[in-house]
Amino acid sequence: MRGMVTLNQSLTEALGRAAGAALGAEHAGVDPILKPARDPKHGDVQANLAMGLGKKLGRPPREVAERIVGALDHAGFADGVAVAGPGFINITLKPAFVAGLLAEQRRDERLGVTPLPADPVVVDYSAPNAAKEMHVGHLRSSVIGDALARMLSFAGREVIRQNHLGDWGTQFGMLIEHLLDVEAEHGGGTSSDVAELNVFYKAAKAKFDADKAFAERSRRRVVALQSGDAVTLERWQQLIEVSRTYFAAVYERLGVLLTDADIRGESFYNDRLAGTLERFASAGQLAESQGATVIYPEGFADRDGNPMPMIVRKSDGGYLYATTDLAAALFRIEELRVAQSVYVTDSRQSPHFAMFFQALRQAGFVPEGVRLDHVPFGTVLGPDRKPFKSRSGDTIKLIDLIDEAESRAGAAVAAKNPDLTEAERAAVAHAVGVGALKYADLSNDRIKDYVFDWERMLALEGNTAPYLIYSYVRIRSIFRKGELKPEAYGATSVSLDDPDEKGLALHLLRFGETFDGALDALEPHRLCTYLYELAAKFHRFFEHCPVLKAEAGVRASRLALCAETARTLRAGLGLLGIETVEKM
Ligand code: ARG
Repeated sequence: MRGMVTLNQSLTEALGRAAGAALGAEHAGVDPILKPARDPKHGDVQANLAMGLGKKLGRPPREVAERIVGALDHAGFADGVAVAGPGFINITLKPAFVAGLLAEQRRDERLGVTPLPADPVVVDYSAPNAAKEMHVGHLRSSVIGDALARMLSFAGREVIRQNHLGDWGTQFGMLIEHLLDVEAEHGGGTSSDVAELNVFYKAAKAKFDADKAFAERSRRRVVALQSGDAVTLERWQQLIEVSRTYFAAVYERLGVLLTDADIRGESFYNDRLAGTLERFASAGQLAESQGATVIYPEGFADRDGNPMPMIVRKSDGGYLYATTDLAAALFRIEELRVAQSVYVTDSRQSPHFAMFFQALRQAGFVPEGVRLDHVPFGTVLGPDRKPFKSRSGDTIKLIDLIDEAESRAGAAVAAKNPDLTEAERAAVAHAVGVGALKYADLSNDRIKDYVFDWERMLALEGNTAPYLIYSYVRIRSIFRKGELKPEAYGATSVSLDDPDEKGLALHLLRFGETFDGALDALEPHRLCTYLYELAAKFHRFFEHCPVLKAEAGVRASRLALCAETARTLRAGLGLLGIETVEKM
């Protein structure tokens, strides 16, 4: 289970020992609060533990820092250790020590990431509603959820993807009724094309709003569906099938991992809803409010300070979104036996998640140590900073965005490199276009809204997928140019005499801790920032340090650095669900 020894672990141990020796054994376990140093002139790493310890001991932090440094045996890892400012400890690492850690990381298939136990973890993401097309709003959940699923399994978790499809509910009454009408008019044979499904949905809704008799029939159809009427179920199945085929095609193009096997829609929980509420009743959690059945999650109050109810059964007996989520959570905890359940939806649903998590906890259904995480995200905005819509004011279809991303990237690639074959161009357009679309979404702190901007996301400079993919391509071309194989440098020892070599190596060593932090906070954008900095450090190194033209020993060392940078870029992008290419 234990991964390689990381830079942070080595420094934590050494500083802990020194703190213990200088200030008393009870301080040996102190968190050294390590930060990358801002300016390499002052060192590579800064340890900020003296501030907190000073406060605790009632001594000036500078004095505390000096005592720690006095007791620190740094000969094995640092060329210099100095106290600066109010009590920062600046550490200048030995190039050979950094190279040694990097050698270990280069052998580690997890690149220094802390391995996690293989406990099952659910990632609930994408979850569009059946019988409707996916729109720009589904981009975020699909892309963020997919990155988290990939990261969790990279760390060693057993990931169970769950596509909690909106495939049940009163809208199916009107849809099925409309389907039967259309069939009666046209003598059967409905199209299975989902583009028409959207139109179909709108037609059904318009009829529902305008035609009282139709609305009434639709309501009866809902009852028939819920009571398992065979004809109704068959029609429902037919609608779901069309949707599934369509979703699968979108996922395929978007390069997200979801397949049909990951679909466990709301309908799956239908016959568990009554039982779920019985269990809440036995736990003493159900109450009545104006004919409806409710749960009062502790800690939630309305504006007047009254306890806020979460409705779980309407007065007409109908169940709600929340009821299904309670049943789904019990299924995941008790049958899938998850250690963590992650839900990726927009932040408007935050109160829903907070309330039903609390309802589960107060009923005693969440075992100690099981994590329930809502992963909220903001809205995709248009250039006017309002929710991104088409010019006519319609929602923007996800599939249209994918098309446009590919065609824009294709045009840019053709202009930049006219020598690519048609097939190569298409492959690059796909990787770069879809990569740009996904990366633009992932690289923003997810809780914030972001402005959708084709030009920015497709730019070859800046924190973009094209820049990162291009950086990867550039490294690969070094090897091509020299007719060399990156794999041949896996065991080559590196020397880090140039500050840019050392800076690059140090950044490579920070992959693991960055990843660990990003996964714990469920924030893929931290990984994006890391990769962007990695590419920038690489370019800096490449500008100042000749590679192919260097003399043999230095050349091999630099090629090894190049190979490890390429591997890290590719792995990092892969964790975000973004492909690399060999040429562009
Ligand atoms: N279908 C829902 C929507 O479009 C998202 C479902 C998220 N998952 C969940 N377990 N509630 O808003």
